[in-house]
Amino acid sequence: MKGKKLIKVLSAVLASALFLTSCGKAEEASVSSETWISAGSELAEEAVDEQALEEAKKIYLNKDLPVAERVEALLSVMTLEEKAYQCVQGEQDNVSVEDVKRTGIGSVLSGGGSDPVEGNLPEHWQKRVNELKAAALETRLGIPLLYGIDAVHGNNNIYGATVFPHNIGLGAANDPELMEEIAHVVAREVRAIGVQYSFAPCLANPQNERWGRTYEGFSEKTADVVRLAGPFVAALQGNVKGDEYMPEDAIIACAKHFIGEGYTAEGVNQGNVEMSAAEFDELLGMGVVDPYKACIDNNVLTVMPSYNSIDGLKCHENKHLLTDVLKEQLGFKGMVISDYNAIGQCSGTYDEEVANCMNAGVDMFMEAQEWDRCAQTIIKLVKKGEISEERLDDAVSRILRVKFMSNMFDEEVGSAHENELFGEFGSEENREVARRAVRESLVLLKNGNVDGKLAMEKIKEATNITVCGSGAFDIGRQCGGWTISWQGEAGNITLGTPIVQGIYDEVKEYAKVSHSVRGELDAASDVIVTVVGENPYAESAGDVKPSDLKPISGDVKLLETIEEQIAANGNDPLKVLIVIAGRPIDINDYVDKYDAVVMAFLPGTEGEGIADVLFGDYDFTGTLPITWVKDFKKIDEKHELPESEILFPYGFGLNKTGELLVRK
Ligand code: GLC
Repeated sequence: MKGKKLIKVLSAVLASALFLTSCGKAEEASVSSETWISAGSELAEEAVDEQALEEAKKIYLNKDLPVAERVEALLSVMTLEEKAYQCVQGEQDNVSVEDVKRTGIGSVLSGGGSDPVEGNLPEHWQKRVNELKAAALETRLGIPLLYGIDAVHGNNNIYGATVFPHNIGLGAANDPELMEEIAHVVAREVRAIGVQYSFAPCLANPQNERWGRTYEGFSEKTADVVRLAGPFVAALQGNVKGDEYMPEDAIIACAKHFIGEGYTAEGVNQGNVEMSAAEFDELLGMGVVDPYKACIDNNVLTVMPSYNSIDGLKCHENKHLLTDVLKEQLGFKGMVISDYNAIGQCSGTYDEEVANCMNAGVDMFMEAQEWDRCAQTIIKLVKKGEISEERLDDAVSRILRVKFMSNMFDEEVGSAHENELFGEFGSEENREVARRAVRESLVLLKNGNVDGKLAMEKIKEATNITVCGSGAFDIGRQCGGWTISWQGEAGNITLGTPIVQGIYDEVKEYAKVSHSVRGELDAASDVIVTVVGENPYAESAGDVKPSDLKPISGDVKLLETIEEQIAANGNDPLKVLIVIAGRPIDINDYVDKYDAVVMAFLPGTEGEGIADVLFGDYDFTGTLPITWVKDFKKIDEKHELPESEILFPYGFGLNKTGELLVRK
């Protein structure tokens, strides 16, 4: 743009010179001094700009130079507009290729379920992401576009991706080495479609499972989150240290949501933590901040503030938390990115929200629809002095550091390496990692005595198995929320192995397998496997009253039908209950009636992992990352209840020989 302007100024000066000569005036063709001076000064300025830009490009486009030098050089030639647009992230269905070329917007995201118009296959995504990335390179400075997505249990938006157990199941597995394996697969399946950034991991430590995001947390205990999220972030980002350049298979992580989201009153999502700022600081010191320390120690490049408030003040506009604690005390050098339109929940006019949040420490604004307005507001506020140039430059420097470190300035859009990764999207090898995660995430809650044998011993004698419940043949239910769509949904929504399919494949050599959605039983069945639980949900849609923490109504009916059928058949099959849910739910009425009870949480696409343990040679190793109460009406005071009120305590889990497992 500057280049074009320069040519215009030059031609204007030359034209006036030519005009004068054409008048035949004796004096040597010359333009008035004013023209030369004004044009000259503009010319000089433009020339300096052009020259400065060329000089700067020699530095910021030189991948042999340290990140800090490249950031400084680039920042030095950015206009106020270019800086402001680097600080906004728009939703992909609100950003066109032309918008990217016109504004040089810093980032685009796909929120849950925000697929390319053309479709939801990996090729549709690769095309969409890369057309936006290519457009960014056509801007004056050619600052690459950062594309973010919620790959929170695999690259879960995209059809055919490997979908892992949700975090609460990985909390049950409690295996840091497994977290590294998962991170490598996720990073490769995200990079495969050109995306460089995932809004993961969630570091919540949920205290009240009424909260719709309970399953996005690893554990109620922060020490577990430290143990699992640190290695995950390190592996996701390719173990990048300091200002090093990330390996090309790695992606940018996001520690979220900062902070206190699991402590809101009654588990209300985006609700209020009813503590004073001083009390909350004490809570931070008691461990709640530790997962962020662990992620920062592993060089996490971005942090996302939480929607919740502390004592009525929204985290997004809490300068004490975002700047004093996160950036200064914890030494976070990366980029703080606001949550989806979250600044709209803060106080005052839109201008005040932008000013308050940026001055509190937000660097990039996830303003899905209002991204252009947000950038223009930043420009206005900087000109008015309500956001200092120093704060803006700090924000832009943080953003550029992330972009340089993730090789965005040095990667080729749609590279050969990306296409190589594209070829392994959803591969069997990747799915084997997910299958292992399923096995390790299962928790055996009951291993009862059947004819003098333990249920898990007796089950080996099965010859005729009836698997009951819609959840036994439903990829959508076994994956839960954040799968293909934001909320997820029941049904055959993506590629994977339903639970009953896994059981059939495991036992087909020696046993007959039937599947009954409504619980009609083959009277000759010697084993009944009943799958019950929740339907998918995400965020506030999952917030429930205590009385709603139970299997869906269809599953309650199923359980009743099975009891009636067994009574009518007059036989006494071995009965196994499998729960697929994002959190503990009320199964009190069934624990006594079933010989074995397994908590499978939300296993993801590789449902065969359940059969591997239930009928195969693998043993149960999972333990509960969350306290399971008896009476869900008392859930709001769960952590004050006596042991007698706890059905299964935090850390509980059995193995096939009935031993109590010790949580690592
Ligand atoms: C959502 C979630 C956050 C997610 C973001 C982008 O509202 O709070 O976890 O990363 O928006 O989808």
